[in-house]
Amino acid sequence: MTRQRRKVLQRMSIRWRLALISLGVIALLLGAFGFIISFTAENALFTNEATALHNEGHLAMTVLKQHPLEIGRTPTDPQGTPPLNFKVLATILTQRLTSTSTDATVLSLQGNVIISGSDIPFSPPTLAVNPILVQQTLHTSQDNSTYLIKRDAQNERQLVIFMPIVSNHHTIGILQINTLTAPIDQFITTLRWILILGVLGSLSLAALLMFPLISAALHPLVAMEQTSRAIAAGNLSLRLQTLETDDEIGHMTSSFNDMVAQLETAFRRQKQLTADISHELRTPLTALRGSLEILLIGIERGDGTATRRLVSNMHEETERMQRMIDDLLILTRLDEGKAIIHLTATNIRTVVDKVYDQAQQLTRGQTIHCQISPDMPLVCVDPDRLQQVLLNITDNALKYTPADGHIDYVVRSEEADSVIIEVRDTGIGISAEAVPHVFDRFYRADPARTRHAQHVGGSGLGLAIAKELIEAQGGEILLHSTYSQGTTITIRLQAISAPEQPVEKVTQIIH
Ligand SMILES: Nc1ncnc2c1ncn2[C@@H]1O[C@H](COP(=O)(O)OP(=O)(O)O)[C@@H](O)[C@H]1O
Ligand SMILES: [Mg+2]
Repeated sequence: MTRQRRKVLQRMSIRWRLALISLGVIALLLGAFGFIISFTAENALFTNEATALHNEGHLAMTVLKQHPLEIGRTPTDPQGTPPLNFKVLATILTQRLTSTSTDATVLSLQGNVIISGSDIPFSPPTLAVNPILVQQTLHTSQDNSTYLIKRDAQNERQLVIFMPIVSNHHTIGILQINTLTAPIDQFITTLRWILILGVLGSLSLAALLMFPLISAALHPLVAMEQTSRAIAAGNLSLRLQTLETDDEIGHMTSSFNDMVAQLETAFRRQKQLTADISHELRTPLTALRGSLEILLIGIERGDGTATRRLVSNMHEETERMQRMIDDLLILTRLDEGKAIIHLTATNIRTVVDKVYDQAQQLTRGQTIHCQISPDMPLVCVDPDRLQQVLLNITDNALKYTPADGHIDYVVRSEEADSVIIEVRDTGIGISAEAVPHVFDRFYRADPARTRHAQHVGGSGLGLAIAKELIEAQGGEILLHSTYSQGTTITIRLQAISAPEQPVEKVTQIIH
């Protein structure tokens, strides 16, 4: 198929393309079928005709029995002159066989014409056949149906048969009978027209039936196209009508719907994130602006103490913004799969000890304990990332636990292949409705209450980051809390079976 034809096909609608291809295939098959029918019919009719001519020939040759050749004489002398008796017999033969549609000729054994029947008025013209061809046909003819089709001097097709003339067990000559094929040709032409009209009729009928069928089969695709246009225009809540059919279109519909659902979720998340970020930035920015305005007024009064307090507030707000931006950057990197985690066989005690030390420096009066079981197996983690997670959790515990409360780190191994780190506090706890959401981005359980717990509230990203980081290290993080009584965060990490196993460094990019 040339490139141009392919382009034309591609520009057509699928409906037209399918119809054209199917009609083309049907036309090809019907055409081939018609050709075989007409060819077989023509062959059968010619064979029939040849057999009939042979029978006529045999019948006519009974004359030889009534008038046998003179014994002892050869039918032709070397010069090719046949004996008198033979000529007479040949004339009788040709006269019997020649009619308005058939011509009979008697040839010598060498293929030369001895007597031609075309002298009789209205019979078809005698057909001059190459003597070599005559011999060949005679030799290859095995039954009564061998024939040749040749054109005569008037360019008309004739069917020719050859028969040996035998008398007294001697082949004395060749009988050639030729007849016009016009009646058979006419019949075949009519048959061909019937076949052509039949093929055209069948094609038209097929086209008539095919269009509604193809349209019905492609209907879901049309609906799909319209819906996807509407979706592309921004209506992500739209879905394709689900089909019960277990075919390609049915599968495509459900995959398409899944894709749109995912897009919708991603889009909603994106919108929510933008809204959350704007909202979160607005609070410190408003505070900053307020402080700046007061400062501007205060500059004239020269109140040093008030100025210092305001600048200190502004510093806190900018720090809060900085923290939030940093947290968002970590989450974005995790989302994009750009956060690099270096998994290393790590001694858990070292990490927890560091966090415990920092917690003791940050405490606002809470008592902090750390209990690590002896003979802890190594864990396969990124120690820096694990420390970051534990610091986020510690930050919460310190924020949401009153000064007289307790914070405990408990580290133990479980079922030989995992290590559990628990951070328990006796703080304000989280309500049962809020617990399922604490790992969501920007989620803060009861902001008024938690903000009250410490003068600088968080942005609601700490636990979201913790969860992503722990899962990226192949671990699991859970939160259990009782309102007004305290919260326990449990981290389960993969242990490396032998504690003495050499440290092996693995770098993994999260996807
Ligand atoms: N130890 C805890 N005690 C009480 N509430 C907690 C504790 N840890 C987390 N929370 C609740 O879960 C919310 C989400 O925590 P986090 O993602 O760290 O955000 P935040 O920036 O507010 O600390 C907090 O706002 C708080 O309401
Ligand atoms: Mg926090």
